[in-house]
Amino acid sequence: MKTFERNILVTGGAGFIGSHVVRLLVRKYPDYRIVNLDKLTYAGNLANLQDVEGAPNYCFERADIADFDAVCALMRRYAIDGVIHLAAETHVDRSIRDPFPFVRTNVVGTLSLLEAARLQWEAQPEGFAGKRFYHVSTDEVYGALEVTRPDGEAPYGDALFTERTPYAPHSPYAAAKASSDHFVRAYHDTYGLPTVLTNCSNNYGPCQFPEKLIPLFINNIRNGRPLPVYGSGTQVRDWLYVLDHARAIDAVFHRGRTAETYNIGGCNEWRNIDLVRLLVRTTDRLLGRAEGASEGLITHVADRKGHDVRYAIDASKLRDELGWEPSLQFEEGIERTVAWYLENGPWLERVTSGAYRRYYEEMYGGR
Ligand code: NAD
Ligand code: TYD
Repeated sequence: MKTFERNILVTGGAGFIGSHVVRLLVRKYPDYRIVNLDKLTYAGNLANLQDVEGAPNYCFERADIADFDAVCALMRRYAIDGVIHLAAETHVDRSIRDPFPFVRTNVVGTLSLLEAARLQWEAQPEGFAGKRFYHVSTDEVYGALEVTRPDGEAPYGDALFTERTPYAPHSPYAAAKASSDHFVRAYHDTYGLPTVLTNCSNNYGPCQFPEKLIPLFINNIRNGRPLPVYGSGTQVRDWLYVLDHARAIDAVFHRGRTAETYNIGGCNEWRNIDLVRLLVRTTDRLLGRAEGASEGLITHVADRKGHDVRYAIDASKLRDELGWEPSLQFEEGIERTVAWYLENGPWLERVTSGAYRRYYEEMYGGR
């Protein structure tokens, strides 16, 4: 049997960002074995990885990260020496409706991985040497920034999230991710586990589950359904193309300094309502509809509870230390993304059937 240079466990590899990370690593590092551990919740989809499933350096294991015994067994079986941890419950609206799965997966699951890694690596003669535990997190742990220039151009305020911004999570999702970040740092500070952590802004691109703003709205425009803009639509998000995030994860996993935190962001702030109009224009054009044909689908609905007003990232540490920068212009990324969803109708239809349909009907009143 082939001996691999490294054995990397990627958790959540069947999800949106995880599938792009797995594909990048499998292709770029043929001498690494990439083990994808995923529970395949509603958000996990092996169809996202069809093009790599036969690769000799890739394998899939279905397991729950909160199942400590299962995680320990997998780490032993594959002699894992690096973990890239993405598995999580990720949708803010779901966390508002039912926070418990968020604590189980994001907090208990992360703890289970940390403890399994510690026990396995401490028992080896070389200990933690050559090992790395990389935790993928979100900028939402920092809370919200103010919009101080509501009518101008981006940036919509002077402040940005830096690696020194104090944690102030608002949603149950963000609170659970913040807790998991604290456990990661505690495992470094207490046991010396070689950890590294990144906090990234909103991602977009192919294979994102259509409950998040961009894929939900593209799908609704395609189907002539209302586009439910929460509240005024003046909230601001900093958008990053998912492949640029995957490239950043590769850079930090290999070259980031142990125990450090790096922010990742697109330097690309958009007010929700402006983004929705861009999606309408782009989708109508690619569908061959008259310009603005779907504008009338925009519907202002009740605001999200505790809606964070603005996220914006200072990613200069990552740029200065590791030379990473976003590679794609937003308009081009949106064009590619809309085209991907329009060309992948069967993917959309499969993931939006069954349990998702019930969630959608409860959330948006079956419109
Ligand atoms: P996603 O919801 O698309 O995918 C999550 C994946 O985790 C799915 O494949 C799911 O099956 C798996 N999973 C869930 N619970 C599990 C469990 N208990 N055990 C094993 N697997 C489980 O998520 P995403 O958007 O790709 O986000 C991935 C990571 O990146 C998350 O940790 C998220 O907090 C972080 N992040 C996401 C964004 C974003 O904009 N999407 C931004 C910054 C950080
Ligand atoms: P989302 O994609 O859920 O990401 P996050 O909440 O993690 O930033 O939402 C992005 C923005 O879009 C956020 O300000 C909430 C808003 N939004 C809507 O206005 N309507 C919707 O149906 C959804 C899902 C989001």
